[in-house]
Amino acid sequence: MSLKLHVIICSTRPTRVGPSVAKWFAEYAKNHGTGFDVNLVDLAEVDLPLFNEPNHPVQRNYQFDYTKRWSEIVESGDAFVFVTPEYNYNPPPSFYNALTYLSKEWNYKTCGFVGYGGASGGVRAIQSAKTLVTTLKMMPMTECVMVPMVATMIDDDKNFKSNELIEKSADAMLIELKKWAAAIKPIRG
Ligand SMILES: Cc1cc2nc3c(=O)[nH]c(=O)nc-3n(C[C@H](O)[C@H](O)[C@H](O)COP(=O)(O)O)c2cc1C
Repeated sequence: MSLKLHVIICSTRPTRVGPSVAKWFAEYAKNHGTGFDVNLVDLAEVDLPLFNEPNHPVQRNYQFDYTKRWSEIVESGDAFVFVTPEYNYNPPPSFYNALTYLSKEWNYKTCGFVGYGGASGGVRAIQSAKTLVTTLKMMPMTECVMVPMVATMIDDDKNFKSNELIEKSADAMLIELKKWAAAIKPIRG
């Protein structure tokens, strides 16, 4: 059975460019030889309020339907690619919020990052995000995709236009993600 890869759109603001970048990456991953079963997840649609579950997520004793729905989505994934902008050298608050809602659903799964922003290409946001994902026992890939000056790479129809460097980075990340996702699966309880 194919390993399931959730590509997660992390930005949620109305004028965001996240969906353009994420749709490109999801299509790229679908056509890649790694054979992941690719699914696009939009945190704006998941629509979680600021974390308000009364119990620690490790108990999985969720009170709210939105948390139960989110738990099912994350539980079904073997690997994740977070498509994240850089806000103040970090991922957006929606990223921290969505990850905080759950615990065991993330454990022993792999993740990669497609970062975008201004000159940095989101690399500082990616490095900051790794502190949280490793606390949730996820294995982040060293390889990542960085997209500097993202606004210049989106056309009038909101399609993201990649280039050779970005595609090479995506190849390297997907190959690693597949290796780790297959290797880590047996240790999940
Ligand atoms: C609150 C805020 C903070 C930002 N901080 C950074 C930053 O630290 N580094 C950077 O490269 N770009 C920064 N930017 C630019 C964003 O990365 C860029 O606008 C990107 O399109 C945001 O993603 P989104 O459109 O999907 O929300 C910031 C943008 C916002 C709105």
